[in-house]
Amino acid sequence: MAGGRIPQSFIHDLLARTDIVEVISSRVELKRAGREYKALSPFSNEKSPSFYVSPTKQFFHCFSSGKHGNAVGFLMEYDRLTFVEAVEELAKRAGLEVPREGGGAFERLVLDGPLDAMAAAERFFREQLRKYPPAVDYLKQRGVSGDTAKVFGIGYAPESWDALTRFFTDPQHAIEAGLLIQKDGGGPASGGSARSCYDRFRNRVMFPIRDTRGRVIAFGGRTLANDPAKYLNSPETPLFHKGRNLFGLYEAKQSTKAELPHLLVVEGYMDVVMLAQHGIREVVATLGTATTRDHLALLYKSTRKVVFCFDGDRAGRSAAWRALEQALPEVHGDRECVFMFLPDGHDPDTLVQEIGAEAFRERIGQAQTLSAFLLGELSKQTNLGTLDGRAKLASLAKPHLDKLRPGPLQTLMIDELARLTRLRREDLQPTAPAAAEEAPVSAAAKRPAPPRIEPGGTRPVRRALQLLLERPDMADSVGELELLASADVHGIPALIEALDFFHENHGANAGQLLEYWRGTSKAAALEQLMRQELQLDDAAIEREFGDVMRHLRQRALKTRRDHLLAEAQIRDLSAQELSEAAELTRQLSTRGPVQ
Ligand code: UTP
Ligand code: MN
Repeated sequence: MAGGRIPQSFIHDLLARTDIVEVISSRVELKRAGREYKALSPFSNEKSPSFYVSPTKQFFHCFSSGKHGNAVGFLMEYDRLTFVEAVEELAKRAGLEVPREGGGAFERLVLDGPLDAMAAAERFFREQLRKYPPAVDYLKQRGVSGDTAKVFGIGYAPESWDALTRFFTDPQHAIEAGLLIQKDGGGPASGGSARSCYDRFRNRVMFPIRDTRGRVIAFGGRTLANDPAKYLNSPETPLFHKGRNLFGLYEAKQSTKAELPHLLVVEGYMDVVMLAQHGIREVVATLGTATTRDHLALLYKSTRKVVFCFDGDRAGRSAAWRALEQALPEVHGDRECVFMFLPDGHDPDTLVQEIGAEAFRERIGQAQTLSAFLLGELSKQTNLGTLDGRAKLASLAKPHLDKLRPGPLQTLMIDELARLTRLRREDLQPTAPAAAEEAPVSAAAKRPAPPRIEPGGTRPVRRALQLLLERPDMADSVGELELLASADVHGIPALIEALDFFHENHGANAGQLLEYWRGTSKAAALEQLMRQELQLDDAAIEREFGDVMRHLRQRALKTRRDHLLAEAQIRDLSAQELSEAAELTRQLSTRGPVQ
């Protein structure tokens, strides 16, 4: 392992020195298209280009695969690198050494605080479990032993709106970690005083989710009442991305010093816990989401064989199919992936309690191979007794086989498909993306139409952000951020943060803002906005940005004035407030009414 964390400030500077167009064009052939570049998607087989790179925004978007991001994101996707590896690769290009730890003041601020809050919460929940017999009884009744509860650090969140809130003297980091929720109106300005938040998890058995180093980064909580949300997970935070973390992975790796011969992937927290208690400790769960490619990459770092364990019903089989699709590009070299289906009405938790570990292990041994599952499922959709059926099988299977990396598995599967369809091997050879011929125009069909310009704007904040991403230097033309922040308009805090960011970082581009927000819900919203190319020239962008910002300012003035007027109903305003109200009214009337 290479040292401590990489300072955020370094990544920020690195992106400033990197040109995403250069990074991508050394891997993918780009053609100029207006203000952007385009290419055939490197992520899917396509005939007309739907892959776009924006030099101004330092952002790529692939409309056929839905992948998008900045230069770091591209390398993570295309070269299949981890975040750190991608940063290292870019640094190498730029001739820079990646600094570690020490200088990482920003990282410390952003991650250490929330990690500490998580660790404190874990202790708190465990303590609460000891104090609350009904929760202990629940675990007993489900068959969980005290030892198992200890291994996983299982705890209990009391039935209270503020038990955890009161536990923290400063709630800020607990809010960032997603443990506490800020009440409406508790915006950035309020700084999150204890009174402005409440506990996210109430009356739930708590399962800590750890990163590969064992640090708690999230929780899953099972209701003890009949809450319709049986399980509640931590939200996505800078610490936690459910598509990139697995419950139980740390505990599984802790269970042995040797490499794990396989890792079982199940759906539920209790499945992991109960299998582990029966000695099947090499087990992880996805966190209420479908298996992602990131999950698979993570799994194959710890083992060479992944065993997916799904319900035998229709829903289970279709979930298994989605997992298979993610696995295809990851199964190469000596990696294996097999599928195990459970008898009806069972999950691993109930099954292992009924049949015991030995019989459960036997079932693992009988799991279907990836190739058998793939060809088996597709054969069910066709009649191999007919020529048309065999042709259909070939065309159904081909795109899947193309996703495999060249190697023995691909070769053998092509052989098997040739046998089943009675086609020649040559006819089933993978189509290299590069070989796909250039089709006549009309990738435009895949690309959403440029957004309609909404004068006045039903979604002025989105529009303002969109324009700002194109021309971050316009941030300097905006003043009075504090006033703007008080506008009662959806999304205003994100816009303010973006304006602040570009104020403080002269010459920064949208890709850097995206990096700054990596892993937050704001990043996802930003990515949506960045997909669209504004077909406007500089003058038009400036004009419209000016219009939208004036509109937002008016809204802010109005919010502030309405607030003062409402206050005036219940108390006497101070002299200062009265003159402010008068000034606001004057400004509002000279600029014309809003809406
Ligand atoms: P299940 O509904 O199969 O629950 O959800 P389970 O694991 O068998 O739960 P128990 O045995 O009744 O306690 C499987 C998994 O899906 C996610 C959780 O990760 C859960 O373990 N899930 C389920 C949620 O995230 N939210 C929910 O409301 C339900
Ligand atoms: Mn269950």
